[in-house]
Amino acid sequence: MSTHAEDDVIAPVPVAGSPAASPAPNADRAVASRTREFDNPRLRKDFAEQDAFLYLEDFLAPEVTAQLVHSARALLDEVNRNYLPGHKQGGSVSRHTIDRRAPFIAELYRSKELIGWLEQLSGDKLQVSPADDPHAYALYYYTRPGDHIGWHYDTSYYDGRRYTLLLGVIDESSCRLDYELHTRNPDVADQPGSVQIPPGGLVFFDGDKLRHRITPAGANEMRVSLTFEYVTDPNMRPWRRFISNMKDAIAYFGFRQVFRQMTQRGKDSA
Ligand SMILES: [Fe+2]
Repeated sequence: MSTHAEDDVIAPVPVAGSPAASPAPNADRAVASRTREFDNPRLRKDFAEQDAFLYLEDFLAPEVTAQLVHSARALLDEVNRNYLPGHKQGGSVSRHTIDRRAPFIAELYRSKELIGWLEQLSGDKLQVSPADDPHAYALYYYTRPGDHIGWHYDTSYYDGRRYTLLLGVIDESSCRLDYELHTRNPDVADQPGSVQIPPGGLVFFDGDKLRHRITPAGANEMRVSLTFEYVTDPNMRPWRRFISNMKDAIAYFGFRQVFRQMTQRGKDSA
């Protein structure tokens, strides 16, 4: 037990035009308060049996979910909208905006408790994504009728594996995460599934193994999810970096968000 209550909180960043949030919880403690209650050997077995996929409908501590909901609503004015006919329609807020306006999310992403627990599940040593990857942590918004993303894999452009952690933040929608397990394994029949991720729920998977989509939002619906990406090897070959950046600029965050980092990278690492 801590004898220093002030260590448990980080002052929230005031957001213009939105009500003040409660003080942000301590990310490590909040994660540990949940993960120590789980049957972790069982979850690890489930993850492996589902070909590197796990869904938990109740993962985050309530105070963490509340903080994320506050941030998601406060960042509505920062959403970058994208439309790729036949594949994707929706909005996103990149890590660069999150760093500026919702630093608790960045702290949660780097939580040693969270990363350690994901390592237990996956059996892999995980690292945070490099500083110039706008997907490292990002919010995805489905706020207009038809917002969706079609069937895809979260392909790793890195030299190693890339894992996706999806956290439910707001779900006032009929959107579902449809998925197919074992599609890369010729010895096991494909296994379809479908979940709705409530606030505080989690999906964790190897991006190259899980075929998945988000079904279209209806009228007057709103869904926001938070994605964290972890890698086993942060190196990326230059031509893959180019493809990855172009994809991010067109399909997600816009050219300014993606390519401004290329000019700032030198500064940041200095
Ligand atoms: Fe995806």
